[in-house]
Amino acid sequence: MTVLAIDDVRKTFNNGEVAEDILKGVHLALNAGEVTALVGASGSGKSTLLTIAAGLQQASNGEVIFDGHNMTDMSAEQIRQIRASQFGFIFQFAHLVPFLTVEEQLLLMLDVAETTLSKKAQLQEVDRILVLVGMSHRKQAYPASLSGGEKQRVAIARAIIHRPKVLFADEPTASLDSQRSKEVMQLIHDMTKELQIATLLVTHDEEMLIYADRIIKMTDGLIN
Ligand SMILES: Nc1ncnc2c1ncn2[C@@H]1O[C@H](COP(=O)(O)OP(=O)(O)OP(=O)(O)O)[C@@H](O)[C@H]1O
Ligand SMILES: [Mg+2]
Repeated sequence: MTVLAIDDVRKTFNNGEVAEDILKGVHLALNAGEVTALVGASGSGKSTLLTIAAGLQQASNGEVIFDGHNMTDMSAEQIRQIRASQFGFIFQFAHLVPFLTVEEQLLLMLDVAETTLSKKAQLQEVDRILVLVGMSHRKQAYPASLSGGEKQRVAIARAIIHRPKVLFADEPTASLDSQRSKEVMQLIHDMTKELQIATLLVTHDEEMLIYADRIIKMTDGLIN
C-alpha cells in the first residue's frame, strides 16, 4: 500500500543570479512495510528530495501525497502536525538531549507527537519500544554514557515510538563502524516490517543495501 507518493516533484534553487534545477520531475511511491533506499552521487538531490517528501521544505512544482492527502494544499500548521505525529526521522548523528535520560527522551517525543495516552500508557510505550530496540537495560542512562551504536538505537526508538507511518533516514549509519552499521540497519529493517512503516533510507554505503527492499538511484535530479 502506498503511504507517500511523490509526483513530478521539481526544485529550483536560486544561487545568486543563476537558477539551478536540482530536482527535475521525480516520481516515487513509498509503501508500508518497505525500506526504499535512495542512492546517488553527492549533490544529486537525495537530501533535497527527502526533506520535500517530509514537508521540511516546499517543492517548486509537483505534489507530495500523504495517505491520500495532498500536502501541497496544506497550511504550515497542518504539515507540522503530520510531521510530528505521522513521520519519524533519523539522521547521521543521534542528536539526543544531553540532560535527559533515555526514558525521558522518549517521553518527550510522545509529547511532541501530541499523544493522547495516559502517563501510565506512555511509560508502557517507552518500555515496549526499548525492548524492540534492545535498550531496556539503559532506560535510566544519559547519552554521554552510551556508545555510538547505542545512541543510534535510542534515536531509532525516538523516531518510531509514536508509531509513524513514514520513517525518513538520511545517512543513519554514516557515523558508525561497519559492525554497528549493520546492526542499526537490521534494526531499521525489522522495525519497518514489524510496525509496517514506509521507510525512505538515504545511504552512501553499498553494504547497507541488502537491508533495502527497493533501491532507487538518483542521477542529476532524476530517478531512473
Ligand atoms: N537551500 C539550498 N540553496 C541552494 N542550493 C541548495 C540548497 N540545498 C541544496 N542545494 C544544492 O542542491 C544540490 C543537491 O543537494 P542535496 O543536499 O540534495 O544532495 P545530496 O544528494 O543529498 O548530496 P550528499 O550525498 O552529499 O548528501 C547541491 O548542489 C546543493 O548545493
Ligand atoms: Mg544528503
